[in-house]
Amino acid sequence: MPKKSPKKESGTASVPATGGLPARRVALAGFGTVGRTVAKILCERGGGTIALTHIFNRNVAGKKRPWVPDDVVWTQDFNSILHSDAEIVIELIGGLTPAEEFVRSALQAGKSVVTANKQLIARHGPDLLQLASANGCQLEFGASVAGGVPVLPALRTGLCGDRLHGIAGILNGTCNYILSRLESDRIPFSEALEEAQARGYAEADASEDLDGGDARAKLSILALAGLHVRVSPADIRARTIRTIDAVDFDYAAELGCTIRQISRADLKEQTLFAEVGPSLVPASSPFGRVQKNLNLVLTSGEYGGDVAFLGAGAGGYPTAVAVISDLMFVAENLTAGTRPHRALQLATPHVSCDFETPWYLRFWVKDQPGIISSLAAILSAHRLNIDAVLQKPGFEKHALPFVITLEACRDSQLHPALQEMSTQPFALRPCLSLPILR
Ligand SMILES: NC(=O)c1ccc[n+]([C@@H]2O[C@H](COP(=O)([O-])OP(=O)(O)OC[C@H]3O[C@@H](n4cnc5c(N)ncnc54)[C@H](OP(=O)(O)O)[C@@H]3O)[C@@H](O)[C@H]2O)c1
Repeated sequence: MPKKSPKKESGTASVPATGGLPARRVALAGFGTVGRTVAKILCERGGGTIALTHIFNRNVAGKKRPWVPDDVVWTQDFNSILHSDAEIVIELIGGLTPAEEFVRSALQAGKSVVTANKQLIARHGPDLLQLASANGCQLEFGASVAGGVPVLPALRTGLCGDRLHGIAGILNGTCNYILSRLESDRIPFSEALEEAQARGYAEADASEDLDGGDARAKLSILALAGLHVRVSPADIRARTIRTIDAVDFDYAAELGCTIRQISRADLKEQTLFAEVGPSLVPASSPFGRVQKNLNLVLTSGEYGGDVAFLGAGAGGYPTAVAVISDLMFVAENLTAGTRPHRALQLATPHVSCDFETPWYLRFWVKDQPGIISSLAAILSAHRLNIDAVLQKPGFEKHALPFVITLEACRDSQLHPALQEMSTQPFALRPCLSLPILR
């Protein structure tokens, strides 16, 4: 959830044509947090090559603002936009219904579309890109991942000369806020969540954020745009951050690490290794240094190596900037009579979460003799090598956390051992396993 807009909704400006070029006519659908901010910036800037002609929203009477020029048509009938002379539709309604139908009908009517809608693009992006191409239109969705961080436009232009094979990111500001609060003050998870909700960084029901649904939708869009693959969010494994305790940050620190929700996708031949979940990362790494609700995306290319993008992942103003940047890109192409190249031939690789990494295993046990030897026997039976055993003093014997780290192995090799270890009589909770990303 974004913070409240820092600016007042005041002041009017028109958006006339300049420089002899016709202004591109733009209809805005959705006058909420982002839509209102987009309209505000367009009206404030004025004098450009964009002319806002329509604003669509339900219950439109209650939405009207005095700073919108009088010649802008307010409507709650989307058909009036479809039948208008608007050339570009900005979709900022969100969700799948009715946004999907609006976007499809706009493209079918020959209107280009700019959207910030991650659900829509994650589920239907490839089909909508085809539809746009078939109708001679453009579809841009730069604000749908990492809000104001221009990673998708960079994938479209600045990095299209490389052959990317990996993308990783901190894509969910809510999770990063909570984990960095656990890190800085070792507060309980529930307290960090309540704080995030009170500050407007988390929804009342934050399941989509905490359990990885939001981040995996964004990862599928990044994989589409950067790796040119078609992957459904549902095929990407998501692990929750709800299992992380403040004590995990103490143990992570002993290993020179901290914990972040990391979304990662690696394309290796015909397999896309992809997952979202809490992971140990070096405290001094770019991921380890990302605080509060910022987003970070790292791309890895065959020729250009690694590139990082950092910034505000949400909020009315950063997201509106991303939307308007897309809008200007589309408008310039319309004026020039060009259309950007889009990779419409997408691969459909096998999707796997079977990454090979070292592991952090945290146990919460009722202390008794022989625990370590029992666990070591299980690990050895599954041919897993222990790297270190860590136990901090100061805990009660009836509820004792300790950690075993493992040398690199595949997720699939670890999984059966985890199940066995979690059902031991001394185990108070299932073992927490986190990949260690170096
Ligand atoms: N907010 C962010 O920081 C952020 C960041 C990145 C991407 N995005 C994306 O940007 C899009 C817009 O987000 P937002 O935060 O601006 O959402 P929002 O504040 O909820 O605004 C949505 C607007 O659409 C209107 N609307 C919803 N359903 C409608 C319908 N069936 N018919 C007509 N109008 C309808 C709403 O009207 P009512 O007021 O009547 O409900 C509201 O004005 C979403 O796709 C979101 O995922 C947002």
